[in-house]
Amino acid sequence: MAVGAGAAALGPGNGATDPASAALVGDEQLTFYGTHQPGIAAPAQTHGWLTAFDLASGATLAQVKALLQQWTAIAATTMAGRSLTAGEDAMTYGRGPSGLSVTVGVGASLLTKLGLNHQIPDQLAPLPKFLNDALVPASSDGDLCVLVGANDGLVAAHALRALQRAAATCCTLRWQVNGFADAAGSMPSPASTPRNLMGQLDGTGNPKQGTAAFDQTVYAPATADPAWMRGGSYLVYRKIRMLLDDWDTLDRAGQEAVIGRDKLTGAPLSGGDEFTEPDYRKFTPSGALAIPAGAHVRQASAQANNGATILRRAFNYYDGPRSDGAPDAGLIFLAFQADPANGFTVIQQRLAGVDSLSTFIRHEASGLFAILPGCRPGEYLGRELLEGDPAE
Ligand code: HEM
Repeated sequence: MAVGAGAAALGPGNGATDPASAALVGDEQLTFYGTHQPGIAAPAQTHGWLTAFDLASGATLAQVKALLQQWTAIAATTMAGRSLTAGEDAMTYGRGPSGLSVTVGVGASLLTKLGLNHQIPDQLAPLPKFLNDALVPASSDGDLCVLVGANDGLVAAHALRALQRAAATCCTLRWQVNGFADAAGSMPSPASTPRNLMGQLDGTGNPKQGTAAFDQTVYAPATADPAWMRGGSYLVYRKIRMLLDDWDTLDRAGQEAVIGRDKLTGAPLSGGDEFTEPDYRKFTPSGALAIPAGAHVRQASAQANNGATILRRAFNYYDGPRSDGAPDAGLIFLAFQADPANGFTVIQQRLAGVDSLSTFIRHEASGLFAILPGCRPGEYLGRELLEGDPAE
């Protein structure tokens, strides 16, 4: 059975030769072409690497166009499991596409540098500063971003290397974060919710794929202004360090009270199973709220935030010890939405103040990018932005 089957456009791969070894992981293939870039709604992959680039000084619009054309070709080729330069490019020889997705976004600063200020969507207005933000500017923002996800590290590295080589024509690398999630095939079922480094099931409350609510939450609508974003999405990236040594001082009940869900099953503390709707009005026999007032799920819920919803696609990072000996570990938190002002910003403004989890985390980097709409064969990502739509 295909890993993560049913979540995004999937089809058989064409690079694997040994069905017994490759059918589960290597054969997984996402279709590059379509209305939306497939990496947004793709099933959680084992590796997720997010990279931001800045335009080199003097870089021109023509160079950016050539870069987006090259990135489109690299994405389409590698996601289909094909070699970029036949015979030479051996990093992934004999492997299938392994669920690879390449997702491209642009920051407001790119449009300013290209003289396209009139094309900057309101949704790319800078995020406000949130309480307790500890952001490192050099690890934040950027003119362009690429998110590479795959169930095989070599496949991800191969695609990223090609994308970075192409970018060197007109960009410098600004920052890169490397994340991981549960290995494909290691979870109880392909549809299981991944766990984060605090041990919680993370992703349960996401909008359900294939519903109108999902599309409305995640994608810029067909009427979006500017038109080049129709079918695109907005990505808020936050690098959130977990204070794991502090977290470990809580017992299981204490950790569950911080989140509002059972640690092992993911069920809300109001009862049921992982996918039972939380009952925020339920009290325990001793008269306490079953889901405590400061619980993360209560404070992050749509009910508490004027209906604000986001699609969360997080990867874990674990980058060794910091100078104080504590693990440099946490979440590469990715939130996709149609409008951050009615999504991430609303929720984070509340969480930063009242969420019990906020004591155990630090937001250390941030980025806001317009994720370009998908494209058809013969086109390239961002064509509507750089050339306009001839049909308009
Ligand atoms: C390290 C930081 C974080 C951790 C460990 C974390 C963990 C969790 C966990 C375990 C859940 C419950 C299961 C689920 O629905 O996925 C959850 C739910 C949620 N989180 Fe977080 N989270 C973090 C940061 C954030 C941030 C920064 C936001 C948004 C600003 C956010 C928004 C949400 C939302 C919207 C839900 C679903 C609430 C609902 O069920 O209605 N989380 N998170």
